[in-house]
Amino acid sequence: FQVSWDPISAEKGGYEHFMLKEIFEQPKALKDTLSGRLQDGEVILQEVDLTPEDIHNFNKVAIVACGTAYHAGLIGRKLIEKWVRIPVEVDIASEFRYRAPLIDDRTLVIVISQSGETADTLAALKESKRLGARVIAITNVVGSSVAREADDVIYTWAGPEIAVASTKAYTTQIEGIVLLALYLTQSKGTMPEEWIGEIIGELRKIPEKAEEILKNAQAIEQMVSLFDDVTSAFFLGRGLDWSVALEGALKLKEISYIHAEAYAAGELKHGTLALITEQTPVIALATQRDLYEKTLSNIIEVKARDAKVIGFTFAGNSSFEKTVDQVFFLPDTVNELAPLLMVIPLQLLSYYVSVARDNDVDKPRNLAKSVTVE
Ligand code: G6P
Repeated sequence: FQVSWDPISAEKGGYEHFMLKEIFEQPKALKDTLSGRLQDGEVILQEVDLTPEDIHNFNKVAIVACGTAYHAGLIGRKLIEKWVRIPVEVDIASEFRYRAPLIDDRTLVIVISQSGETADTLAALKESKRLGARVIAITNVVGSSVAREADDVIYTWAGPEIAVASTKAYTTQIEGIVLLALYLTQSKGTMPEEWIGEIIGELRKIPEKAEEILKNAQAIEQMVSLFDDVTSAFFLGRGLDWSVALEGALKLKEISYIHAEAYAAGELKHGTLALITEQTPVIALATQRDLYEKTLSNIIEVKARDAKVIGFTFAGNSSFEKTVDQVFFLPDTVNELAPLLMVIPLQLLSYYVSVARDNDVDKPRNLAKSVTVE
């Protein structure tokens, strides 16, 4: 009698693919990344060695990354500008050096990289240091090149990510950015202390809310038939929802091979609305309360072109149901933390569409987990 044992399926821990396993690991990854960093209404980042004078001296923040990490950076820009009131630019690493960036010893550069080995990101880091900037890395791999070269490192505690399409690395990168933004806010005193306490309270609840979404994964799986024979899809949102839309569209492209575009919902009418037909599913993100009414009117515009709309909004927003074709309700949280939850159903959607198309989910064609050439 012989028991056949396949080490790869053992590593998948009962999941059909690494990607699904990693999506479901997010509650733990999110919890681990916060662990030890939140205390009595205060963020503690022992690994960041900035003095209040250093922070006061910065007159600009530059965020540099590739792919999914770049999308986390886009969220970082909005949060840091809003909370810390300091200008932030975000660059794709392969573009950064070639535009003669205005970086000096008053710039805080934040480099984001899951692997810590992406050649373009590493080159941008070195260039920033050469120009005199202080560099903080947000990375998932201890001792990686990016971690070694940076002045300070905030590790995401996502654990190994095997699937090429990044999931738990992205959500923990957002947490890293949120922690850093709060840390800078505290030091500069740009937001009231009670407010920081409230955000921290909401942050602590994110892992269990992520778990709640995952319990409802079947509802997402049932939406897959909307993508039968589809060759193009649109993701719409405003503000932080737009940043998450970019990541949602990237996921769909990477593993389902359906062409997808993410659009700022208000920009659609300046051209791209021409591409919307009943054959173009629209994924509408509406988690930002202050922008909700405006997003809704953009959804009505695409409905008028017969698009099938899958809408995502916060729980209790029942008026939304009447406008969209399918709705998924997210657990409630503050606007600024909504991306941490919003992306999870989009990861699931791409996953299930990819499976339905019989694609190699974990190893999509032509893509690599880590790109070490420029
Ligand atoms: C590759 C991966 C992406 C990843 C990007 C940046 O393209 O396929 O998933 O977002 O590299 O990788 P990094 O390790 O620097 O975050």
